[in-house]
Amino acid sequence: MVKLNTRNIKRENETAVGYLNNLDEGQTENMENGYSEVKVEGLNFFYGSKQALFNVDIMVEEKGVAALIGPSGCGKSTFLRVLNRMNDLIPGTRLEGRVTVHGEDIYDPATDVVKLRKKVGMVFQQPNPFPKSIFDNIAYGPRIDGQKNKAVLSEIVEESLKGAALWDEVKDRLHEPALALSGGQQQRLCIARALAVQPRILLMDEPTSAIDPIATQRIEDLIRDLCTDYTIIIVTHNMQQAARISDNTGFFLQGEMVEWGKTSQLFTKPEDQRTEDYITGRFG
Ligand SMILES: Nc1ncnc2c1ncn2[C@@H]1O[C@H](COP(=O)(O)OP(=O)(O)OP(=O)(O)O)[C@@H](O)[C@H]1O
Ligand SMILES: [Mg+2]
Repeated sequence: MVKLNTRNIKRENETAVGYLNNLDEGQTENMENGYSEVKVEGLNFFYGSKQALFNVDIMVEEKGVAALIGPSGCGKSTFLRVLNRMNDLIPGTRLEGRVTVHGEDIYDPATDVVKLRKKVGMVFQQPNPFPKSIFDNIAYGPRIDGQKNKAVLSEIVEESLKGAALWDEVKDRLHEPALALSGGQQQRLCIARALAVQPRILLMDEPTSAIDPIATQRIEDLIRDLCTDYTIIIVTHNMQQAARISDNTGFFLQGEMVEWGKTSQLFTKPEDQRTEDYITGRFG
């Protein structure tokens, strides 16, 4: 049993006790070392000469849902892509500052980006299944990892689909094309595909904006279920959605993180006038 050092726990006592009871050993070690799940310090981000993020600082605690809101073009997707180095794929981009995941500097030249992206999975706005069967979509990541055992792959596929609340709908058609699924099912398939490589963090960029309200509700329910096991960081244009599903919210404006805090507080008693203006619909 790891002895706890509670110095790093900034929650109120009551919450902290509940929180500590739920920690496993690895997590307590992280807390002893003072690690957050994700810590961003002094982040500036550039597309060529154009600066898209300005001096962003944020600490995301383990598990739960963090929502990022703000008007179009304010840098939400850019910020999300910083967290698993997806922007590396865009030529001419540059970053200043420090981004750590579990205390590890992910922009250190020694970082294994493939490993990082396994740990920090991503789900996009448009569901993007591969033109393969449902089974092969989910087994894709584990196979790349070298998993060849059919029984193990079947188990991973089943567990991942169960985790994404899709199993019951597809268990009898695993070898049919994933592209034959409905939009909402395709999005859950993409979540299952992300879960199959056992990430710790799931980044979601407007995951429900391309699907209907009933499918949206299913994904929102799923996000609330998943956040007991995973840290979820979600970009949403929908403030009601952020209020419904997130524990903490960050408000971006023109590349700046204007406010970051508890969702209940940010939507009822924002500290910054610009946040208040945005959430009351005065601009954006
Ligand atoms: N690949 C790119 N090359 C150059 N500039 C980019 C690129 N992607 C984004 N930008 C610019 O960076 C800024 C932030 O864009 P970003 O896509 O992060 O905003 P966003 O908050 O996600 O917007 P939306 O809500 O519309 O998705 C914008 O000014 C955008 O034009
Ligand atoms: Mg975006």
